[in-house]
Amino acid sequence: MSLRSHPTLNLKRFFADLNYFPHAGQQLVHRSTARRRVVSCGVRWGKSLCAAMEAIAAAMLADGRSIGWIVAPTYDLADRIYREVELRLMEHMRHRIVSRKESERRIVIRNISGGLSEIRAKSADNPDSLLGEGLDFVIVDEASRLKPRIWQSFLSQRLIDKDGWALLISTPKGKGYFYDLYRMGQGEDRDPDYESWNMPSWSNPLLDRKLIDAERARLPERVFAQEFGAQFIEGSGSVFRGVRECATSTWSKPHPRERYLAGLDLGKTEDFTVLTIVDTQCRLVYCDRFHRQDWAIQTQRIKTALDRYGATVLVDSTGAGEPILEGLKRDGVNAYPYTFTMQSKTALIDNLSLLFEKREILLPRPELWPEGIDELESFQYSVNDNGYARMSAPGGQHDDIVISLALAAWHVRTRIVRVRLTCFPRRRRRFI
Ligand SMILES: Nc1ncnc2c1ncn2[C@@H]1O[C@H](COP(=O)(O)OP(=O)(O)OP(=O)(O)O)[C@@H](O)[C@H]1O
Ligand SMILES: [Mg+2]
Repeated sequence: MSLRSHPTLNLKRFFADLNYFPHAGQQLVHRSTARRRVVSCGVRWGKSLCAAMEAIAAAMLADGRSIGWIVAPTYDLADRIYREVELRLMEHMRHRIVSRKESERRIVIRNISGGLSEIRAKSADNPDSLLGEGLDFVIVDEASRLKPRIWQSFLSQRLIDKDGWALLISTPKGKGYFYDLYRMGQGEDRDPDYESWNMPSWSNPLLDRKLIDAERARLPERVFAQEFGAQFIEGSGSVFRGVRECATSTWSKPHPRERYLAGLDLGKTEDFTVLTIVDTQCRLVYCDRFHRQDWAIQTQRIKTALDRYGATVLVDSTGAGEPILEGLKRDGVNAYPYTFTMQSKTALIDNLSLLFEKREILLPRPELWPEGIDELESFQYSVNDNGYARMSAPGGQHDDIVISLALAAWHVRTRIVRVRLTCFPRRRRRFI
């Protein structure tokens, strides 16, 4: 029986007994009677909690035996909703729990009809595990990150036998199958089986506005629009926007009246070493990329280019980079370290991304630098297993040009800050 058409159920009281008080947006989802509900909302909106509560309510109010799955792109993600389900049941309805199988992430409860209801967490990265029994409901978290065939060929099929319902929740990610499902629940001619919602993170009244404003300031505009504004934006996975629009220049020889700044990404065993040099307007004038050479030869090659341009270089000095940096300094190169941590790498990439966004960087035309343009365009955001956004080259591809250019651009930025500081009178400078 559908949750919302249950004759005696006061859903509000039921949730209150679980110490859950849905906000207005979550209430819309809970009240819907559609068999396919698609919730496309911003991060921290309360999607997973809303879905966990749906799972508990459906299991408790089932008539006879029931089975429901919680599915996500990875086991860790599915586990998050499952843990919430387990926790609330243990805290508020412990007497209803019949069995719990930790290794299978499976909990069985005695429902109000006296039958048994089972809830299981499943990972979509192993489609074989999604074969089998008919389901009464399926909840899909981070649905937009699932391969379309997982929904089409595996999950929706499981619902046919028992005429089950589905709740798909996610932040948007471009205009893939999740967008299509979302669209089916919209407009005058919507599919009657579907209902969908699209709400930004700030429609969750419990979310701290300061956090949202801080992320708005930190993230590139379109990333914020997707992740917090819940907008379906095509190509929003790529980190650098407008790369081609910025690629209208040529390589250029050193000019005596110009100053140059460089970034150096040192190749580890498999990677390339990449040296990029920009002028003070952040125009890329030189790039050298080489592979598998003795360090002494590499150092010489780097030094020759830097000497030609009279450039100061920022070097990725993490790990094996440290002795090379020292070697460059001994050889008279004006070199400074940049140590990579999660935060410092993010700051570096964010800075480069902002330069592209503001069109404050100039690159050689694509035919002059195809490998550079390719690498910059394919550098992308992805969500790791813990649900955090990270930035990287797609599987198996290089990111050494990106890192080298980001180092050169960072260098420019910090110099600009320094120039600005020197503009202040001495007395004020102390307070900056
Ligand atoms: N109605 C509510 N009452 C109290 N806390 C809530 C409510 N809804 C959500 N929260 C809390 O807000 C936080 C975010 O909720 P949740 O993890 O469900 O959001 P989400 O949209 O799935 O986030 P993400 O995009 O990070 O996956 C959690 O700490 C959750 O407990
Ligand atoms: Mg979530």
